[in-house]
Amino acid sequence: MEITSVLIYIIVLFLSTIFSYPFLKKLKWNSKSIPYKLPPGSMGWPYIGETLQLYSQDPNIFFATKQRRYGEIFKSHILGCPCVMLASPEATKFVLATHSELFKPTYPKSKEKMIGPSAIFFHQGNYHSLLRKLVQNCLSPGSLQKLVPDIEAIAISALQSWAGGDVINTFHEMKKFSFDVGILSVFGRLDKKHRENLKENYCIVDKGYNSFPTNIPGTTYHRALLARKRLSQIVNDIIYEREEKKILEKDLLGHFLNFKDEKGQVLSKDQISDNIIGVLFAAQDTTASVLTWTLKYLHDDQKLLEAVKAEQKAIYEENEGGKRPLTWAQTRNMPFTHRVILESLRMASIISFTFREAVVDVEYNGYLIPKGWKVLPLFRNIHHNPELFTDPQDFDPSRFEVAPKPNTFMPFGNGVHACPGNELAKMELLILIHHLVTKFRWEVVGSQSGIQYGPFPIPQNGLPARFWNESNNT
Ligand code: HEM
Ligand SMILES: *[C@@H]1O[C@H](CO)[C@@H](O)[C@H](O)[C@H]1NC(C)=O
Repeated sequence: MEITSVLIYIIVLFLSTIFSYPFLKKLKWNSKSIPYKLPPGSMGWPYIGETLQLYSQDPNIFFATKQRRYGEIFKSHILGCPCVMLASPEATKFVLATHSELFKPTYPKSKEKMIGPSAIFFHQGNYHSLLRKLVQNCLSPGSLQKLVPDIEAIAISALQSWAGGDVINTFHEMKKFSFDVGILSVFGRLDKKHRENLKENYCIVDKGYNSFPTNIPGTTYHRALLARKRLSQIVNDIIYEREEKKILEKDLLGHFLNFKDEKGQVLSKDQISDNIIGVLFAAQDTTASVLTWTLKYLHDDQKLLEAVKAEQKAIYEENEGGKRPLTWAQTRNMPFTHRVILESLRMASIISFTFREAVVDVEYNGYLIPKGWKVLPLFRNIHHNPELFTDPQDFDPSRFEVAPKPNTFMPFGNGVHACPGNELAKMELLILIHHLVTKFRWEVVGSQSGIQYGPFPIPQNGLPARFWNESNNT
């Protein structure tokens, strides 16, 4: 988030707090009723809390400084909300897995509206587990096997489109790739007309998602909401066409359309489109950021790249110089490249933390987490804790030769909301890397080493790079 929008946010917050003071008083927790104490930490200034400290620097420095000062559980106050931050594997497991019913997912209303309020992320209980079964089923290894040839075709065509030697924005191109794979897993082989239409409107939604949420004509947010309505309409058109042709597909849309509970209840059109758009959303920037980081790590360490190349070239030769397609079994047998991906996930920790909200007063390890407070498990701090990962700043895939200790490696989260797309994400990374390193060369342009937040961390300027077809060696 830009500093200007944070400032505007604070002003709005300040005004709304003044007008809602009586309401806020009710929210105040009564310190006499419970014997536990709040975690250590500072709440910063009134209203603003520590929002500026958090957003005026690399957020990881903010969290790490706090952790050094207060330990693995501490309180703070950001974006108008009192919160408790958790930097230990045990606390994270408590909140996300073993006591998940005490903590509900929480997102800003503006974002919930943009993705769709019936989408899986925002729910708990029966409705959540019902959706989760459908999504998991469709993204399980059994279903993913069938996608290998199509993902391969998407990867090759993406790489060929970059290989002209022009400078491209790696992150933007990876976004197109992960979006196409997302469309494939949701709709199967969707015709070009619908694909282009979805892409165009999705881009507008994407821009609005991280803009300041003022719903006034002319703003990016307003345009995004309109595009979001059109996306629902496109999904409805696709559903209508399927029903007309009586096609029963095994993709995610097919799973949603087929669903019926014991009472014969089906999912509504809105529930379906919110979840379809939600999955596309969850699948795109995440996968694209990790891919961009992986390319940077490979580029910055030629020895690492050579080792990945050696593993992939052996498979390439096995397939008669790429004449035969990759098989599912081959994608499951790339141990070195797989460890490079795990290490990239750890190093980049693109989902640095997540948000929950305590639904009742909760006691954890002698501390009170009051009802209504936000709870933030800090994945990145755990992944970069030297007691859990030796020399955490070094890129070292060999650390994954032994499995990490339970609840210490959570690039895909943990517990009831953990990422159901993790196998698909890893598979598309492996397939793209296979074709990249066996048939192409690339060079990063410029030597910027900064990090940009959009809102996931990505290399500065999206990692500008040039790509060439290796056999046209000029
Ligand atoms: C490298 C890429 C990815 C990363 C790092 C990632 C990470 C995550 C994380 C950390 C969560 C949990 C968030 C929380 O607990 O608050 C999550 C949830 C989710 N992810 Fe992913 N994800 C990736 C790719 C994908 C893909 C490819 C898909 C779908 C095709 C997907 C679909 C979802 C869905 C639907 C949820 C919500 C699950 C629920 O609420 O029960 N993700 N992801
Ligand atoms: C690379 O170039 C060669 C020769 O022009 C061509 O035959 C081959 O198909 C190209 N490879 C890819 C992956 O585009």
